[in-house]
Amino acid sequence: MATLHGVLKQAETEGVAVGHFNVSDLVTLKAVFESARDQNVPVIVGASEGERQFLGARQIAAMVKSLREEYDFPIFLNADHTHSLASAMEAAKAGFDWIVFDVSTLPLEENIRQTRTAVETLKAIRPEILVEGEIGDIGSGSEIHDTARDMRKGLTTPAEARQFVAETRIDTLAPAVGNMHGMLKSMVAGGTKKRLDIERIRAIKEQTRVFMTLHGASGTDDGDLRRAIAAGITVVHINTEVRLAWRHGLDSALSTQPNEIVPYKLLPPVIDSVKTLVAARLALFSK
Ligand code: G3H
Ligand code: ZN
Repeated sequence: MATLHGVLKQAETEGVAVGHFNVSDLVTLKAVFESARDQNVPVIVGASEGERQFLGARQIAAMVKSLREEYDFPIFLNADHTHSLASAMEAAKAGFDWIVFDVSTLPLEENIRQTRTAVETLKAIRPEILVEGEIGDIGSGSEIHDTARDMRKGLTTPAEARQFVAETRIDTLAPAVGNMHGMLKSMVAGGTKKRLDIERIRAIKEQTRVFMTLHGASGTDDGDLRRAIAAGITVVHINTEVRLAWRHGLDSALSTQPNEIVPYKLLPPVIDSVKTLVAARLALFSK
């Protein structure tokens, strides 16, 4: 069975990216898994601290492990945006393959100190676990935001990235390169798109040679996503678009089956709605 490190290495070599989709329930997990299987591409599911609180860290780890083993399929699990070492250790012990240790709101030196400690502690629990660090400001909240952030603020510089990677010994880096978490209303309607700083991505990759993750990818221009992958992005995170597809699917299932009460009859159209979204994103990332 492939390891997550092996899957990232292969994607990097082929100049493609692995899709990462956040899940909150069995409906979204099934949709992501089925989409990836249909296209026969590896996939990562993520559960942030809030999503883990709802799902149970050990329960989502058991579900992903059972899919991986029963279908002999490369699906991996990430403990997304983990803000404390205690929570990261809990996820590592539960069997997560990857931890995004996110203390990016702290000053750089303190971020480096805490991230280095997290790398050492988590690899002592499970040596094969991957640890991601984050620098720069990409905001928070995979939701619909009313106001736009100033995207020029908090961008990651190649020099900072080089220092951060060298001093923390992280496996993967989450930079701020024009990306942001969540979507504006105009993005949901399709009128505006997030745009990425492709030259910054290329320069950070050259300076660090580490795997890079693009967070906050929902609502990003498709051409920019392709160019970002060519410039050095190896994993792309999508959450808000998954949640939107889930909500649209649920609204439509409830309105077309107003008297249905059986969950396994009501929820398949919700799975289909999320699958359609995930399939389109996976096709784009693996080209
Ligand atoms: O970690 C999760 C992702 O960065 C999702 O961002 O909600 O903008 O897709 P998004
Ligand atoms: Zn993120």
